[in-house]
Amino acid sequence: MSSVITPTIDVHLSGSDLRRALEHDVRAGLTSRPKQIPPVYFYDDRGSRLFDEITRLPEYYPTRAERSILDAHAKDIVSASLADVLVELGAGTCHKSRLLLDAMQSTGRLRRFVPLDVSDTTLWEAATALSQEYPGLEVNAVVGDFHRHLGHLPIDGTRLFAFLGGTIGNLDPEERQRFFTDLGEAMASDDRLLLGTDLVKDRARLVNAYDDAAGVTAEFNRNVLHVLNRELGADFDPARFEHVARWNEVDHRIEMWLRSTEEQHIHVADLDLDVEFAAGEEMLTEISTKFSPGPLAAELGGYGLVVESMWPSDGDEFLLTLARRA
Ligand code: SAH
Ligand code: TRP
Repeated sequence: MSSVITPTIDVHLSGSDLRRALEHDVRAGLTSRPKQIPPVYFYDDRGSRLFDEITRLPEYYPTRAERSILDAHAKDIVSASLADVLVELGAGTCHKSRLLLDAMQSTGRLRRFVPLDVSDTTLWEAATALSQEYPGLEVNAVVGDFHRHLGHLPIDGTRLFAFLGGTIGNLDPEERQRFFTDLGEAMASDDRLLLGTDLVKDRARLVNAYDDAAGVTAEFNRNVLHVLNRELGADFDPARFEHVARWNEVDHRIEMWLRSTEEQHIHVADLDLDVEFAAGEEMLTEISTKFSPGPLAAELGGYGLVVESMWPSDGDEFLLTLARRA
């Protein structure tokens, strides 16, 4: 019987890094047209809890669909790679990681788990729970940004890089290109990428997943305003912004906006910045791109990532793709 190994945590984002990025992003975003806020700022402790609630909503099918693929195929996925290390990007609460960890354990190869996330409290709680649940497993949590720190991950062992939850869809095409290029450079030839993508489908089903009846997604969307008030001394009144979820047919993505219910003036004390919102003006807070298998394989191929297998969920709602370096 192996004993519990205390998890380690590597912090690549210092408080002052985060602060500088926040100040820069918010100034740039609030002075651009349309106004926008990068989605990474949703995930403070409250935001991470609200997201966890979203994953259990009746309308939010992606988490259940992805889990059903892992339930059916985690063994196939794991045996298609030689990995003894699971690296998970944007791991969050690590609920789904357990299905991969169990499958790796059953091959006898599981050695180490490296979850990376910007949300340090959520990450630390998950890392502590997992090291208890999997005696003998080394858990090396990394507080970092997947836009910047893919080259800083531990490199020993053979790695399976999991990027689940459809989070890749939250990156715009330029960010996606950078992400896949950085990841390709970080991967060794035996390493594998396991990518979770939501698929294009009926518009009403897509929109409902981002505009639930209970209003949890609306609260999640407005949470970014609470973050700006607390961190930058802004004076947003979240009640004066409405949640909007819209399907963009051309770019195949759901877009989340916050719409100002009236003409209003916002002061951001720490940035010494004043911003006007017109009545009905919308600010972009998130995109969630939806994919199709053929074009996705072609896109990965363009970044030197060769698709080995694809596993769709029943009804083709969600897709897991396993890829290696060319
Ligand atoms: N993988 C989980 C969580 C998805 S939510 C799932 O499938 O359910 C997206 C996660 O990515 C959150 O935990 C958030 O904190 C994290 N995240 C968002 N932007 C990030 C960034 N730039 N770098 C690292 N993590 C990020
Ligand atoms: N990765 C999730 C997705 O695109 C994130 C998400 C779900 C989200 N619901 C949201 C982000 C609502 C912002 C607002 O499906």
